[in-house]
Amino acid sequence: MNVLVTGNLGYIGSVMVPYLVKKNHRVSGLDTGYYAGDAMYPFRQPVARQINKDIRDVEPGDFAGYDAVIHLAALSNDPIGELNPSLTEEINLRATLRVAECAKRAGVSRFLFASSPSIYGISSQNSALDEDAAKAPLTVYARTKWQAEQQLGGFSGGDFFCVYLRPSTAYGASPMFRGDLVFNNFIACAYTTGKIEIKSDGAPWRPLAHVEDIAEGFAAALAAPRELVENRAFHIGVPGGNYTVRDIAQAAQNALPQVPLTFSGEHARSRSYQASFRRILTELGEYYRPRWNLEKSAAEILALFEKVHFSREDFEGPRTIRIQRLQTLLEEGKLTSALRWKV
Ligand SMILES: NC(=O)c1ccc[n+]([C@@H]2O[C@H](COP(=O)([O-])OP(=O)(O)OC[C@H]3O[C@@H](n4cnc5c(N)ncnc54)[C@H](O)[C@@H]3O)[C@@H](O)[C@H]2O)c1
Repeated sequence: MNVLVTGNLGYIGSVMVPYLVKKNHRVSGLDTGYYAGDAMYPFRQPVARQINKDIRDVEPGDFAGYDAVIHLAALSNDPIGELNPSLTEEINLRATLRVAECAKRAGVSRFLFASSPSIYGISSQNSALDEDAAKAPLTVYARTKWQAEQQLGGFSGGDFFCVYLRPSTAYGASPMFRGDLVFNNFIACAYTTGKIEIKSDGAPWRPLAHVEDIAEGFAAALAAPRELVENRAFHIGVPGGNYTVRDIAQAAQNALPQVPLTFSGEHARSRSYQASFRRILTELGEYYRPRWNLEKSAAEILALFEKVHFSREDFEGPRTIRIQRLQTLLEEGKLTSALRWKV
């Protein structure tokens, strides 16, 4: 397929693009490049074309000739959302609808949206939620993901249809590594400070998935026949892929056994839910073959850290913490308060 990936220069996109190319797709990218200077090491994406553009400014012409769009571009976590909620509305909701509308007008048929299981908020259910479970988003990031899913449904029709992928919290090595994701954060904390500090009491549940298995989930939604995926939501994860924060910290500690764990409990009201992966594992089972686990990935992340001499500054600073990069670009006067490049 001829595929356009928005947000291709981010943590997931920079793993997904080569992954899709290996599966014989022809892949192009569209990104405004907020974090483009933060690569762990020099790398080139195997894209047919790179469009340097803000998704708030896209036009139908940007999407001409593509069979599918994978829409990853977004302000990608809760803290950035809380920094300026109206910008998260503008980018994650309104610009998402603009991307879909332009793609539809350009003749794209398949639109894969990167949503999030954070739309479930805090679940009191002690078992895994399926995709139809009640939504209770706690933050503007989660709320706009859920609103976007609902409103994208309105574009389905004729040759155009949407699929809603809800990836578990990602982990794993990437040339655009993020240190603000829970497992990556614990490994980076252990590696650079000699201890693992957990800001909750360790009890909240989180589904986790490796960044390459997330790419595999999107690849499955590209490959599956329309009738299996049209206007449907899929969690992306692996069997047994729900963990308490304590389990996640222990998995990080297993990779660096001499490192102590501490629980500060300062983040009391944290989202907590378990996601069921039955739908993707059974209904897309023919197309979706996840391969990773925390143990294997810990070794891969530590190898990346050794290779790039990963430092405490990398762990705590703008190079791997998305909100800090945006704040630095604002302070340096490179971005306007609307997160647009000044030049
Ligand atoms: N990482 C996770 O754990 C996770 C889990 C579930 C869902 N998601 C979703 O997957 C997507 C990708 O996540 P990620 O971890 O790679 O995030 P990321 O922050 O590393 O990458 C996001 C990319 O989008 C681009 N972008 C942001 N705003 C833009 C705009 N206005 N115009 C053009 N480009 C813009 C950024 O420059 C960046 O390259 C996001 O939509 C995120 O919400 C991520």
